[in-house]
Amino acid sequence: MTDQTSLSRAFDLQAAYCVAAGAPFSASLLTKAGQDIAEGGPLATLMTPWAEAPTRTVLADAVPLRWLGCLHDLALSGDAPDLSAAYPRDPRPGDGAAAWVAARSAMIARHDRFAAFMSHEPQTNEVRRSACLTPGFLTVAERTSLPLRIFEIGASAGLNQLWDRYAYDFGEAGVWGPPTSEVRLTADWQGPPPPLGAPVSVIARAACDRKPVDIRDPIARRRLKAYIWAEQFDRLARLEGAIAMSLAADTRVEAEDAVSWAASRAAPKPGAASVLFHSVFWQYMRADSQAALTAVITDHGALATADAPFAWLRMEPPPDSLVDMELRLSLWPGGEDRILARVHPHGATINWAAAAPED
Ligand SMILES: C[S@@+](CC[C@H](N)C(=O)[O-])C[C@H]1O[C@@H](n2cnc3c(N)ncnc32)[C@H](O)[C@@H]1O
Repeated sequence: MTDQTSLSRAFDLQAAYCVAAGAPFSASLLTKAGQDIAEGGPLATLMTPWAEAPTRTVLADAVPLRWLGCLHDLALSGDAPDLSAAYPRDPRPGDGAAAWVAARSAMIARHDRFAAFMSHEPQTNEVRRSACLTPGFLTVAERTSLPLRIFEIGASAGLNQLWDRYAYDFGEAGVWGPPTSEVRLTADWQGPPPPLGAPVSVIARAACDRKPVDIRDPIARRRLKAYIWAEQFDRLARLEGAIAMSLAADTRVEAEDAVSWAASRAAPKPGAASVLFHSVFWQYMRADSQAALTAVITDHGALATADAPFAWLRMEPPPDSLVDMELRLSLWPGGEDRILARVHPHGATINWAAAAPED
């Protein structure tokens, strides 16, 4: 297989994934992009850093998504009016053929802008993951009957820190949260209902990321939006609502590695349940960091008492699936570890496993 073939194959595979995920406009651009690489067009030149890379490396580096993100960012910026006009904008579905013509010209005229944007890995913050995390927080509140101190690691822009201020519709399982919230999240619920009546009060919240996305910076904000597929208006609206709420609440994400930050910040304290949480983060850490973080969590767990419990709540892919994720909770004292739910990676479905505890 020639290098160009393996590069264009990565774009074709990403296009197929976008079709399956309900993003046909993005898929059409990726398909054109794959053809352009195979024909030695302007995108082939931008692929120089991956010229020798096999398809799996190009996908692992999320190169097709870097390119798609750059294009969406350019459309959002208004710097290329032909591209902006062809891009989807609620309720307009977008014109894939016109967008490709504008994209091809832009890659020639703005080669350096594309190369600089594509040198970064994509960084997203998926707000609907709060719909999965929230039932986990409710479970901690129910089990401990204490207010919560919450600590998020790998928080990106930190938007899921405000999970208790969003409104949720879990279908037949019920609703939760302030009904007038700017951010309304729905998820298809399967299984028994979560403990929606648990009394919840968050008395401290903090977050870290090794590379936080600063939502006060308009360029960083636009970049965060750009990584959402442009035709997915509901995801864009959720992101915009959550950014507005986070700016108003002045939430912060500290720039620090998760291991040292969790060690210094998240130890249990009397009078509250301390919850260390994360979503789609674990896989990005090296094995030695995973071991070090596990040791920090075990140490915090060992310090926990009935009046100072410690919880580890996480939404991560299990070893046996790339399609579903697991919501898991460990709770000290005792260290009981349970799978609470199997969930969709973006929080669209929640298959709740945990029956309400009887004690
Ligand atoms: C895929 S994003 C997920 C962001 C967010 N949790 C969500 O679910 O939308 C993973 C985040 O983990 C951060 N990260 C990776 N390794 C880290 C580390 N060792 N310490 C802190 N943050 C880390 C990355 O910078 C990135 O923002």
